[in-house]
Amino acid sequence: MRAQVGIIGGGPSGLLLSQLLHLQGISTAVLERRSRAHVLGRIRAGVLEQGFQNLMRQAEIAQRMDREGQVHTGVNIAYQEDRLRIDLEGLTGGKTVMVYGQTEVTHDLYEARDALDGVVIDEAEDVTPHDLQSDTPYLTFRKDGAEERLDCDFVIGCDGFHGVSRQCIPDDVLQSFERVYPFGWLGVLSETPPVNEELIYARHDVGFALCSLRGPQLSRYYVQVKADENPDDWSDDAFWERLKATIPAEVAQRLVTGPSIEKSVAPLRSFVAEPLRWGRLFLAGDAAHIVPPTGAKGLNLAASDIQYLSSALIDWYKKGDSSGIDNYSARALKRVWKAERFSWWMTSLLHRFPENEGFGDRIQRAEFDYLASSKAAQTVLAENYVGLPY
Ligand code: FAD
Ligand code: PHB
Repeated sequence: MRAQVGIIGGGPSGLLLSQLLHLQGISTAVLERRSRAHVLGRIRAGVLEQGFQNLMRQAEIAQRMDREGQVHTGVNIAYQEDRLRIDLEGLTGGKTVMVYGQTEVTHDLYEARDALDGVVIDEAEDVTPHDLQSDTPYLTFRKDGAEERLDCDFVIGCDGFHGVSRQCIPDDVLQSFERVYPFGWLGVLSETPPVNEELIYARHDVGFALCSLRGPQLSRYYVQVKADENPDDWSDDAFWERLKATIPAEVAQRLVTGPSIEKSVAPLRSFVAEPLRWGRLFLAGDAAHIVPPTGAKGLNLAASDIQYLSSALIDWYKKGDSSGIDNYSARALKRVWKAERFSWWMTSLLHRFPENEGFGDRIQRAEFDYLASSKAAQTVLAENYVGLPY
């Protein structure tokens, strides 16, 4: 089997890249380890920057997103009983974000790949890259028990944090920068009306909570828990009780509770690998970097990587211009580190750090009070939240 670009991982990064390249006449094959049902069943991100939305439009898969996605002009930060609305639109000269779940994005991407007869091989086992330092790299894998081989010009690692591609870069080349936080998020999806029409990020004595949503009858909530917490140890009642204790009372009294339809724990980490290129291998999305979800930046960062990489590959194939692929790592990392900074800052402001009681708590309170009193500080938050330019 041959494709010009071999892509490992059929999450949003891999699918978006394959769609963008396909539309330019560049052949791709996506190798995904899990079943399609598994990939489509994952509940993850919910907030899309305009840069992400534009990329979906460029990839000709934005119709449902533009119809069903909700445009949000503001976001709320609560501290104990105080609540502050950040006017995203007013503070950024008209920029907004869109609430449209990653699950829906992935669904739309698969539908688009199928409509164009795109090659997406699911349940591809033991995907292994070879000859990445040559001009003729290839991938081997097993499908339905048979050994297969994919020859290509480039290998793109879109295989998430636990994938195989990053591990191919030798230790003396790859540098990793990491911060693991001493907590995780317990997330619940429930078919209840959202407690607020805009997101609320809340910090309280008991920790952090986020009130988010997917639609008029679908709510997504998170509370801070221990990183190794087992979601099965949390009854629905215990979850709702914790959530109510973490958000301002005037919000809690409006909360409509109901059975959870999904419950999971996500650990929080910041991680960056450098460089994002090794020979003919390129890393993108969660394979290259992780942010804690507090700034809603993970999926959005994957999109900017894919924007840089797709245009670089298109220039290489169409114009014989290698400057884009040569600059990809440095260019992408500049934006990655700014999103890392913002996500770390939001996480530091809003979570309860067990080791931080006393001084650290007071600093967090002062940070919130400063935010509430300063248009400059709110503008910094707003311009990062809507997404820095590509
Ligand atoms: P992934 O989605 O991880 O996809 C990688 C794919 O590669 C997977 O399908 C995996 O099965 C496959 N794979 C792995 N190993 C192999 C292998 N060896 N061979 C073949 N295939 C392989 N981001 C935001 O922007 N906004 C948010 O609001 C937001 N909220 C979040 C909330 C939570 C609770 C979590 C957990 C994340 C959130 N994120 C958010 C982050 C976002 O979900 C990720 O950044 C995004 O999924 C990255 O996409 P990706 O395609 O790079 O990686
Ligand atoms: C979500 O809706 O799942 C969501 C929203 C904002 C975040 C993280 C997750 O920062």
